[in-house]
Amino acid sequence: MGSASPPALPWALALLLALGLRGPEARAHRALDPDFRESYFEQFLDHFNFERFGNKTFPQRFLVSEKFWKRGEGPLFFYTGNEGDVWAFANNSGFILELAAQQAALVVFAEHRYYGKSLPFGEQSTQRGHMELLTVEQALADFARLLQALRRDLGAQDVPAVAFGGSYGGMLSAYMRMKYPHLVAGALAASAPVVLAAGLGDAHQFFRDVSADFEGQGPKCAQGVRDAFRQIKDLFLQGAYDAVSRAFGLCQPLSGWKDLVQLFGFARNAFTVLAMMDYPYPTDFLGRLPANPVQVACDRLLNESGRIEGLRALAGLVYNSSGAQPCYDIYLQYRACADPTGCGLGPDARAWDYQACTEMNLAFSSNNVTDLFPELPFTEEQRQQYCLRTWGVWPRRDWLHTSFGGADLRAASNIIFSNGDLDPWAGGGIQRNLSASILAVTIRGGAHHLDLRASHPADPVSVLEARQLEATYIRRWVEAARRERWTQHGISMAEGRGPS
Ligand SMILES: *[C@@H]1O[C@H](CO)[C@@H](O)[C@H](O)[C@H]1NC(C)=O
Ligand SMILES: *[C@@H]1O[C@H](CO)[C@@H](O)[C@H](O)[C@H]1NC(C)=O
Ligand SMILES: *[C@@H]1O[C@H](CO)[C@@H](O)[C@H](O)[C@H]1NC(C)=O
Ligand SMILES: *[C@@H]1O[C@H](CO)[C@@H](O)[C@H](O)[C@H]1NC(C)=O
Ligand SMILES: *[C@@H]1O[C@H](CO)[C@@H](O)[C@H](O)[C@H]1NC(C)=O
Ligand SMILES: *[C@@H]1O[C@H](CO)[C@@H](O)[C@H](O)[C@H]1NC(C)=O
Repeated sequence: MGSASPPALPWALALLLALGLRGPEARAHRALDPDFRESYFEQFLDHFNFERFGNKTFPQRFLVSEKFWKRGEGPLFFYTGNEGDVWAFANNSGFILELAAQQAALVVFAEHRYYGKSLPFGEQSTQRGHMELLTVEQALADFARLLQALRRDLGAQDVPAVAFGGSYGGMLSAYMRMKYPHLVAGALAASAPVVLAAGLGDAHQFFRDVSADFEGQGPKCAQGVRDAFRQIKDLFLQGAYDAVSRAFGLCQPLSGWKDLVQLFGFARNAFTVLAMMDYPYPTDFLGRLPANPVQVACDRLLNESGRIEGLRALAGLVYNSSGAQPCYDIYLQYRACADPTGCGLGPDARAWDYQACTEMNLAFSSNNVTDLFPELPFTEEQRQQYCLRTWGVWPRRDWLHTSFGGADLRAASNIIFSNGDLDPWAGGGIQRNLSASILAVTIRGGAHHLDLRASHPADPVSVLEARQLEATYIRRWVEAARRERWTQHGISMAEGRGPS
């Protein structure tokens, strides 16, 4: 989902890293240094089969901070890790720490199986033939067991827990509340595309909404993007491969249709990353992204005399942030996968590709009509063929919907779905209040899960309001859970049949 180019980092990780802490935020963060303790938990390989792997386990990584916790008073905040190194999420979810300090919470960040160092089969884990234990359901069961074990080990049996997550991690936090409501009192699901990923969305929504961010910078920018892609295509059709390659700064000249498609995918991915990361302050990800990168991207595009050169300069924000990239290696810096918004590179990217080939439906296309990008279809049929070829699996398009309900959350409770209106993923999530306890919060001027990040002076007012609402509801869920427990204990004691 929307990976930046730099090597070995899948989308969300890329995203979170991109927002590296700087300036005032860095100071705020340091003041809240949580002193995380890194540990490993002996996790069952397979929660749903007692025979094939028997008792076998793998080490699941997690982080704990007891720094803000007031025993007997504070709740447990549990981050349901997504597709990357758990430290990346812990380092870049400052709001959870700020809230923990306010509400005296114990904080846990759990790593998702197959990512970071939580590898069921060691280094081989993301090789074909070793992926069978990578499912959303297994990951949730990991979190459930880990949460119960930590409660026991830390003497926190009766402490109410709240799940947190952003993006795919936000989907997991919502699912955690839905599948294990006796274990977590509520969930904050930030930028969680639970509808889209369940295969219920519109295949053109994502790139349309990426485009909207650039169109929002004015008609010149949008036209400039269209012109750049058109000029590349026209030159290509005239056979002027070298002219395109020179103007765009490619390491290898284009040699055919396949290369053109790769170049288009590479360039489109830069727009995806910039739209998702359109934060109002500078961020860092293997190089700097400026504040308001979409605006800067348009400035760069229009500042060059040629449009193709402008597109090259724009792409440089993502693929040449160090300024040390003499030319673009479009195959090395971008890898097409089952997620057209990007998987990143390296082992985490492979695991995410597998997820996009199995449960996660991300078959999106750009069409050069409702969006600014060249027509790059990725249909369900193409996905099926790719997945069969790459992983030997056939996607089950309906499974996520069947398993978690898609947009039908009537039976669920205590979940906040937050979305930023700049975020191309927002259109794939829950954007209306569904009941008194399934809330949708829209953050005006917010990119991808801005609310989970530490407070920053440049934050839009809307994110302050969202965090305020989130804090209020989370406190309410925790108090209600505590009251329920008291009532249960009270009754069982009164009736003289409490546990000894
Ligand atoms: C399986 O694990 C349990 C503890 O979790 C242990 O008591 C039992 O002996 C193990 N059985 C086998 C066959 O390894
Ligand atoms: C997280 O932060 C720690 C401490 O600042 C740093 O050493 C580590 O490299 C960071 N890890 C990631 C993945 O961001
Ligand atoms: C996009 O559509 C326009 C209008 O039909 C066309 O002129 C242009 O060549 C198309 N661009 C690409 C990259 O295919
Ligand atoms: C625009 O181009 C000029 C001259 O090449 C350069 O000095 C300036 O920094 C550029 N501005 C932007 C926003 O890229
Ligand atoms: C990367 O940035 C450097 C420094 O601005 C520039 O010289 C180089 O041409 C850029 N690379 C590409 C592929 O545009
Ligand atoms: C949902 O309800 C909350 C709390 O009343 C409110 O703040 C929020 O604006 C509502 N969301 C939408 C999308 O109407």
